[in-house]
Amino acid sequence: MSSFASRLLRWHKQHGRFDLPWQKDRSLYRVWVSEIMLQQTQVATVIPYFERFLQRYTDIAELAAAPLDEVLLHWAGLGYYSRARNLHKAALLIVQNHQGEFPQQYDAVLALPGIGPSTAGAILAQALGQRHAILDGNVKRVLARYKAIDGWPGKPAVEKQLWHFAEICTPASDVVNYTQAIMDLGATVCKRSSALCECCPLQPDCLAYQNHRVAELPGRKPKKVLPVRQKRFLIIRNQHGELLMEKRPPTGIWGGLWSLPELNMDQSVEQAMQQYGCLRADKTSDLTVFRHTFSHFHLDITPCEVQISAVADEIADKGKYQWYADISQLALAAPVSSILQTEID
Ligand code: ADE
Repeated sequence: MSSFASRLLRWHKQHGRFDLPWQKDRSLYRVWVSEIMLQQTQVATVIPYFERFLQRYTDIAELAAAPLDEVLLHWAGLGYYSRARNLHKAALLIVQNHQGEFPQQYDAVLALPGIGPSTAGAILAQALGQRHAILDGNVKRVLARYKAIDGWPGKPAVEKQLWHFAEICTPASDVVNYTQAIMDLGATVCKRSSALCECCPLQPDCLAYQNHRVAELPGRKPKKVLPVRQKRFLIIRNQHGELLMEKRPPTGIWGGLWSLPELNMDQSVEQAMQQYGCLRADKTSDLTVFRHTFSHFHLDITPCEVQISAVADEIADKGKYQWYADISQLALAAPVSSILQTEID
């Protein structure tokens, strides 16, 4: 075993995390759900969601049988809902193609929606002790510093180098603990800012430490100027105090979630009202604009309160638009939660 792995394992015995809920009863299903939740969310946030999700969906068959809307609702608050859509889709595929048993071969795991090479490795290593390298954000940082690898890890050439080191550093035995150890070191010691090098078991060989480059590695993502889009989000209440909600299409941004009816800034609110079955908008007032940023564009949202005086009995497109007295059971797009919360406060 390399000194990298043996030092990490020794450190982990003393300082690693052993009480995480997915470390108990490490079934493939439990480890899979935890790894998906942990992809973009911190451990402390994930724990209660994980417990509730596992209570509601105790196995793959239950998850596959649940309606997607309900799964999305259990995900509400964790964000990045494509993870929940992929989890549900993968559960259906596992029932269809793998007799309901989570696959044990790396290629079959990698073929499931929402699972990339690092997540596939992490699941099989932790649940079955199979030897696979992992390379999530924390591990990229540890390795980029240890080997002083320049460049942003999201760049394919840099990522390829990091995968190479991830592979050779992974030991042949004790992979379960090694996998947890390298993730724990990244999360608790080799932190992005204010790394705790004095506590690090890898410090004696760390090239970034030796060359005073810890703060500058790994390289930052090159900043790109994102385009700005503008939309008006309509807050329309009817005479019963119900709110008009719009269901997003199943794929794309906020896929399958509920949002407010939205318009381009140059679209007329009055015309749109007819489409919703609200015959007349008496008064519209724009509220303060706020920005929601996606990976590839900024969305400047103008919430707009609309007072109406008449409502047609039927809404034109009932699958897409619905009046709701209580929205607490809807999985909402994140900025819509903020708009409606601000309204209530
Ligand atoms: N991040 C991703 N997987 C993790 C795990 N198993 N434990 C802690 N943090 C993680």
